[in-house]
Amino acid sequence: MKTSLVTGGSGFIGSHLVESLLERGDRVLVVDDLSTGNFANLDAVRNHPRLEWTQGTIEEQAVVHRLVDQADEVYHLAAAVGVALIAKQPIQTIERNVYPTQLILNRLGERVKAGSEVRCFIASTSEVYGKNPKPTWCEEDDLVFGATTKTRWSYGVSKAIDEFLALAFHQEHQLNVVVGRFFNVVGPRQTGAYGMVLPRFVEAALAGRAMTVHDDGHQVRCFAHVQDVKNAVMQLVANDHCMGRVFNIGSDQPISILDLAKRVQSRVNPDCSIEFQSYSDAYDASFEDIRRRVPDLSRIREAIDYDPSYNLDDIIDAVADSLRSTGPAG
Ligand SMILES: NC(=O)c1ccc[n+]([C@@H]2O[C@H](COP(=O)([O-])OP(=O)(O)OC[C@H]3O[C@@H](n4cnc5c(N)ncnc54)[C@H](O)[C@@H]3O)[C@@H](O)[C@H]2O)c1
Repeated sequence: MKTSLVTGGSGFIGSHLVESLLERGDRVLVVDDLSTGNFANLDAVRNHPRLEWTQGTIEEQAVVHRLVDQADEVYHLAAAVGVALIAKQPIQTIERNVYPTQLILNRLGERVKAGSEVRCFIASTSEVYGKNPKPTWCEEDDLVFGATTKTRWSYGVSKAIDEFLALAFHQEHQLNVVVGRFFNVVGPRQTGAYGMVLPRFVEAALAGRAMTVHDDGHQVRCFAHVQDVKNAVMQLVANDHCMGRVFNIGSDQPISILDLAKRVQSRVNPDCSIEFQSYSDAYDASFEDIRRRVPDLSRIREAIDYDPSYNLDDIIDAVADSLRSTGPAG
């Protein structure tokens, strides 16, 4: 039986992945400090005989060593996430996103040296492209960050360091590792508490409150359902040809944030209104946003026949159904 470790397995994406790995027949180890995750995310599998849950931080070497040493596959998803959180806690962002990744990769590197066959997935983000002005971003494009005085860039830079480390371990220690850059993953269990836009809109619409659109709402994003993303992650890790490579993962169907708000309005509550808020009021005066964030998905399509099955209306309905039955997540 294969043993898989999911760091951040009580989080939004992690909990969906844990369910699928259990379905596949794996023994699944989860470690989560519940900083942004929620124990209830694993309710459906909490008593599963092949699930072992550790509440703890992967900033602790002993925890990482104990868990990594048992795993055939490591899915490293734990990180400081969410634009609002990052703007407020930049030190934590940098520390949480870099040091644990290094601990995990170091330990995996030692295991490879000792002859073990292990695989690893590192969760990265579209934020690594920074403010690259290209209309679509492909994996070999430049990373274009703003000044270090603007805290929001610390998230993308910290994840870029993770990517450099992962690729270096592949190069120097032949570690089987693949990096996935997620673009706005959405779906049931995502919390709006840390600034994620879709759950914020749907929560507001369900409560009959105004949906708050930042800036003029003309910023463009692409939203992918967590089920499609999680399937892609598992396929990438299973594929020998994907090792040592970086992949965009998400949707390439662009929509402006204002149009997203209108779509939520029409599907969830036509009576709720839309209001605007400046970035300086939402975050701080130095906040810089990215106007357009659209992935080029050629590489992942070619590698694993990636073909997302959920469209935006399906996604909005799924998020609304889930919030109706459980209330706001996290
Ligand atoms: N959701 C998205 O759209 C998106 C986009 C780009 C990248 N990502 C990346 O995907 C991964 C998962 O994100 P998510 O959206 O599921 O967020 P999430 O906050 O739901 O999941 C992160 C999980 O990691 C846990 N965690 C954080 N630091 C930890 C630590 N030191 N030790 C143990 N557990 C810790 C949190 O409690 C949480 O359960 C992250 O690496 C994130 O950077 C997500």
